[in-house]
Amino acid sequence: MDLIIKNGTIVTPSESYVADIAVKNGEIVAIGTGFSEEGAQVVDAKGKLVLPGAIDAHTHLAMPFGGTVSADSYLAGTRAAACGGVTTVFDYPMQRKGSGIIETVQARKDMCDPEACVDYAFHCCITDLNGGAILEEFKAAVDYGVTSFKCFLVYKKEGMMVDDATLVKIMLKAKEAGAITNVHAENPDLIDLNIQQFIKDGKTSAWYHYLSRPEYVEAEADKRAVHWAKSIGAPLYLVHMADKEGLEAAIAAKMDGNEIYIETCPQYLEFTCDVYKREDGRNFVCSPPMKGQESQDALWKAIKTGAIDTIATDHCPFQSYEKDWGKDDFTKIPNGCAGVENLYPYMLSAANSGKLSFNRVVELCSSNPAKIFGCIQKGSITVGKDADIVIYDPNKDFTISVDNMHSDYDHTIWEGKTLHGYPVQTYVRGNLVYNNGDFIGKPGFGQYIKRVGSK
Ligand code: URP
Ligand code: ZN
Ligand code: ZN
Repeated sequence: MDLIIKNGTIVTPSESYVADIAVKNGEIVAIGTGFSEEGAQVVDAKGKLVLPGAIDAHTHLAMPFGGTVSADSYLAGTRAAACGGVTTVFDYPMQRKGSGIIETVQARKDMCDPEACVDYAFHCCITDLNGGAILEEFKAAVDYGVTSFKCFLVYKKEGMMVDDATLVKIMLKAKEAGAITNVHAENPDLIDLNIQQFIKDGKTSAWYHYLSRPEYVEAEADKRAVHWAKSIGAPLYLVHMADKEGLEAAIAAKMDGNEIYIETCPQYLEFTCDVYKREDGRNFVCSPPMKGQESQDALWKAIKTGAIDTIATDHCPFQSYEKDWGKDDFTKIPNGCAGVENLYPYMLSAANSGKLSFNRVVELCSSNPAKIFGCIQKGSITVGKDADIVIYDPNKDFTISVDNMHSDYDHTIWEGKTLHGYPVQTYVRGNLVYNNGDFIGKPGFGQYIKRVGSK
């Protein structure tokens, strides 16, 4: 054996039990007791939880956006991931007019390969069908391991939006290819209408970012995406859901048997739109924005009932000076916040304080994203899976500060948040990459995960 983690409480989506884990060549080879320790590194996890590494199914690393590039490179973002117990990230390369899918993803893979500190996969954002050629590439993309495509129903001026006909074509073709369509749902016309009016009236603070894209802006587009998924019988994954009305429509469609998955993010579970009234409100600007208390309550309820499938971060940080571009005009604030290092600790801390079970956190942050997105080697502590393992100390308190994070950004919306319990070690394929506050992995160690489609 290479590694034995013993005496810890192993947490799966359905049970928690004390056992030892034996790892060889990066894989879990046995779970039980009484393994020979000869030649193995032995870690005593008594009193600790032993969890599958989290999968952050939504990051934007080194993403050109908002007139700049998001502040975490593949190196910094995956280093931070490792230190927060995330062992696989899913990034979102952006296909642009004239480019192919594999060309787009390959370019990002070339950037990521030498830098990645944890394993990684890609969803591909589709912004233009290139006269239909893109649709013909879906099958090859699935064979390449990209089994999910993303459509933005928003960011029209940025040239990222697709119209409904394009969305439907993508959803149909994705279904045929054994892939799934991820959707960012907000209504761009309503946003533009609101923005025009606010700017005319001199209403320019971050609060008007929220008011230009309030609950109904997201709800309309959520419902539209759900409508198309139902009408054509195609699978749909709604990213970063933040509003009650849209959430309820998606849940109703799921209950009717439609293949719809719902993702939300820790920022929507922790903050409400009130943050945009703060002096530093611009730092919280992301799209969709945090919503009112009713929506937050609905999200937590849906987590408890099982209606929400995944929690991911939408990690897309920008530096303070970039956020400051919008000090006097919210439309100039680059959209996005940090989160990859906070996802698992935040959700586990919520479990530690009784808000949900540890088993449910494992399901939301690891097992479900692995299943939905075809990461067959990941997502659980089971014999034969990759030894992506987090050791979690339920008694270690931790206060988040930009100074104890491992990203390249210079501020965090999570500053001052106190967590009860914290990861103490992260293993990626049996290799220790994070140890008690320190990143000890190697850039380039992370591997591309070739995913498996549903056909
Ligand atoms: O504000 C956000 N969410 N920025 C990243 C791009 C996106 O919409 O996911
Ligand atoms: Zn988005
Ligand atoms: Zn995003």
